[in-house]
Amino acid sequence: MFQTIEWTLAGTVRLIDQRRLPLEEVYVECRDVAAVADAIQTMQIRGAPAIGVAGAMGLALAAKAIRAGSYDEFFRELSRQGEELSRTRPTAVNLAWGIDRMKRCAEKSKDLPIPAIVQALIREAQAIRDEDIRGNRAMGEHGKGFIADGAAVLTHCNAGALATAGYGTALGVIRAAHAAGTRLSVWVDETRPFLQGARLTAWELHQDDIPVTLIADNMAGHLMQRGRIDLVVVGADRIARNGDVANKIGTYTLAVLAKEHGIPFYVAAPISTLDLSLKSGEEIPIEERSPEEVTTWAGVRTAPVGISAANPVFDVTPARYITAIITDRGVARPPYDASLQELAARA
Ligand code: MRU
Repeated sequence: MFQTIEWTLAGTVRLIDQRRLPLEEVYVECRDVAAVADAIQTMQIRGAPAIGVAGAMGLALAAKAIRAGSYDEFFRELSRQGEELSRTRPTAVNLAWGIDRMKRCAEKSKDLPIPAIVQALIREAQAIRDEDIRGNRAMGEHGKGFIADGAAVLTHCNAGALATAGYGTALGVIRAAHAAGTRLSVWVDETRPFLQGARLTAWELHQDDIPVTLIADNMAGHLMQRGRIDLVVVGADRIARNGDVANKIGTYTLAVLAKEHGIPFYVAAPISTLDLSLKSGEEIPIEERSPEEVTTWAGVRTAPVGISAANPVFDVTPARYITAIITDRGVARPPYDASLQELAARA
């Protein structure tokens, strides 16, 4: 089984290069925070919880390299590098969450000598990774009952082991149902333009011997109309207080289609994806990436030279389209204002 991201014995961050999957299984070793920032920005590592772990590990690498005469000086530099790291991808709140948690860890250890603070930060980053895997397994247990025997599930993008520290959120729910003996099959949207569904989700499910059928994104409506999709399960990059969910571009379209056809639509995400500071999804920043991701594939142009292209890479699904939000602490049901805050307050 591959490792999405780990802290090595040599004190570096090792991650699987997701741009080269499924054709090549190649690992990248990051020795400093700049290399981690680059890996996040260029999507060698992607997926909200995975970039949360990468951000934390990146900051641990930064901490190792800081030369400071006092705690205050150390913390100022750590915060500055954290700010820079969190700007690499703005939509998924897990990145800023991971960095904040590292800063809180530094503050808690402020009375220790700086080398001991650095050790505490390295342990914290590893704890964030381990907790993510445990949380995904818990999410799987909370969500597996939503998949009935014989069900056909549709998923979008990659919310699997590759998008997290391991096991996955939406794919964690599917994996848990499969492991419990539920017979199921999965429709996977290819997820233009970066093809996370075709390259990553199809690869993960195929490796686990879970029946998978790949479709182009524009086929989902037809399959719903013909009764061939029983439920939809997706991940999330940020969830506002009212239950609006930002996730990979195309998720909103699926949610509207699902409602039209009376198909349940589930979101699976850890509590770290919840941003209680935002009243609604309108406040979630949507990352725009290079138009080249739309006009080319693997260096080959697929559109006329000189054409303009847009590339917003996330969209917001209003809470009214979401049947339930499956978290590591339990399942939230509408009205989400109350249920999400109740789960967030739970230890
Ligand atoms: O642009 P990406 O590949 O980072 O987008 C990832 C997604 O939208 C996932 O669905 C989301 O992060 C949830 S991953 C458990």
